[in-house]
Amino acid sequence: MSRVVVLGSANMDLVVRQPRLPRLGETMFGSSFRTVPGGKGLNQAIAAARAGAEVAFLGAVGADAFGRELRATLDADGIDVSGIATVDAPTGTAHISVVDGGENAIVVVPDANGVRLALDEAALSIIRAAAYLMVQFERPMPLVAEAVAVARAAGVTTVVTPAPAQPLPEGFLDDVDILVPNAQEARELAGVDDEAEAARALSTRAGLVVVTRGSQGALVARGGEVVAEVPAHAVTPVDTTGAGDTFTGVLVARLAAGSTEPDALRAASVAAAIATTREGASPSMPSWGEVSPLL
Ligand code: RIB
Repeated sequence: MSRVVVLGSANMDLVVRQPRLPRLGETMFGSSFRTVPGGKGLNQAIAAARAGAEVAFLGAVGADAFGRELRATLDADGIDVSGIATVDAPTGTAHISVVDGGENAIVVVPDANGVRLALDEAALSIIRAAAYLMVQFERPMPLVAEAVAVARAAGVTTVVTPAPAQPLPEGFLDDVDILVPNAQEARELAGVDDEAEAARALSTRAGLVVVTRGSQGALVARGGEVVAEVPAHAVTPVDTTGAGDTFTGVLVARLAAGSTEPDALRAASVAAAIATTREGASPSMPSWGEVSPLL
């Protein structure tokens, strides 16, 4: 099994279950409140570790109770936490509304995740020694772009989740080996209305593009063509938070374990579906022992 490194966010998710989103100016009742370890980076690291990968996490938290809990959560899944910096800012939070049917709306306050850190020697060696680097866009873009460039120069496979969607630095997509946007992010990045067209366009720049579409499965594009569709595993969702992160983490873990691309994609799809049947982001992610019997 080759090593996977995640440079990304760790947030404490502040999750309210409510029947629907309120209108502006409206006060309504929710039915529950929980704090749940999350953040796209932490989620992808945990999903990959539970799918069997050896994982290192490069992140930033504050010197507070949330930061200590997030570090302990990663550590409990056997993830190398030596690359987590404690910075002079509160730990990042995500304010999540989960509505009936399981869909969510999320506002992320980056705080510690947004502190611009340089990649120190230790972080550089962790990246260069890995087989895969996973990043998302909840850390400062210059840091993300630097990590991707370092990985690329060292022959490390780069895997990018472009969320939240934002303008990319010039040439960034050309350094991406695997791009995993959801449908909305794909359309926004490509500047087109159709996700298949977006997948085709993005795959003229990034090596492989996998557009995740929830219950509609995933579209896979390479070299300007849609080359495969991965069916979704049918489930009744209760909370879709972190499903996309589960997909990406498991995809990379299985590729790192030597699976073929179609097998890794299928495993990712099944794992993401399982995650939607449970509440919360990181706690919902399945172990490999739960995924493999369903393949
Ligand atoms: O992708 C889900 C994640 O987005 C949540 O855990 C939240 O922290 C935000 O980063």
